[in-house]
Amino acid sequence: MKKVKKAIIPAAGYGTRNLPITKVLPKEMFPIGGKPAIQYIVEEAVDAGIEEILIVVSRNKNMILDYFDRSLELETFLEKTNKLHLLEKASIPNIHIQYIRQPYAEGLGDAVALGKLFVKNEPFAVILPDDIFLCRRKVALAQLIETYNEHHSSVIGLQKVKPELLKNYGVIKGEKLKGRQYQITDIVEKPENSPPSDLAVTGRYIFNPTIFTYLEKLEQGVGGEIQLTDAIKDLLAEENCIGMCIAGDRYDIGSDTDYLKLMNRVKKKYSN
Ligand code: UTP
Repeated sequence: MKKVKKAIIPAAGYGTRNLPITKVLPKEMFPIGGKPAIQYIVEEAVDAGIEEILIVVSRNKNMILDYFDRSLELETFLEKTNKLHLLEKASIPNIHIQYIRQPYAEGLGDAVALGKLFVKNEPFAVILPDDIFLCRRKVALAQLIETYNEHHSSVIGLQKVKPELLKNYGVIKGEKLKGRQYQITDIVEKPENSPPSDLAVTGRYIFNPTIFTYLEKLEQGVGGEIQLTDAIKDLLAEENCIGMCIAGDRYDIGSDTDYLKLMNRVKKKYSN
């Protein structure tokens, strides 16, 4: 069986909840303890054994490309000024990163569909850069990959969410398999009434390449967007799909409250 070695990071959205700052600063570049959010995501991917990353960007996200590029000018400056100890901070992650542009932010499903040629015929991860997980033992993606290696079917990262907040998420219906694993039987995007459970889809997924068949057939869903959740719903009619409740604390940096909580938590870690 093929191992999960590739990951897609969709980062082409407008970040409308965080306007006006997102007019000039992509949400994925929001600083958390001196590092941008997307660096946490790339480090999580590396920790989980990912070898190749595709970042989906858009016109105003060039800052992400610059960030993961070497700055020879800066390196020379640090060498000349005897600040060699800072070279590591100026270095780039040891992983292959490539980029593709999404011309219109038509939705997460559309962004993931752009990764078809990158993925080829392999299982792959999708990591949303606005969901930061702080986990005690294994990083969130490694937990999903472990589950994938057991079942070889798609795995969706879940977390329990307060009932009043479920309307903001994709919510699954499922039966408990064992431990943190669920057999998913249905999925609903942003349920207004009677959500099928309190298990919400979070920003971590593992897919087999068959997901592209479902993505290609999608039409606009909730909010006029091409919804990844709709492709998962179609997949459920044909294939097995496992839900995995991630052990760890999740912070949605698109939410001001979560962002502040995360900043405080990281600050505490640094000052200890
Ligand atoms: P979100 O819906 O959380 O991000 O998408 P957003 O659209 O940027 O923010 P709001 O909702 O307007 O405040 C989750 C991730 O998917 C990416 C976003 O960049 C974000 O990282 N995304 C979303 C795309 O790459 N393309 C899209 O068309 C939509």
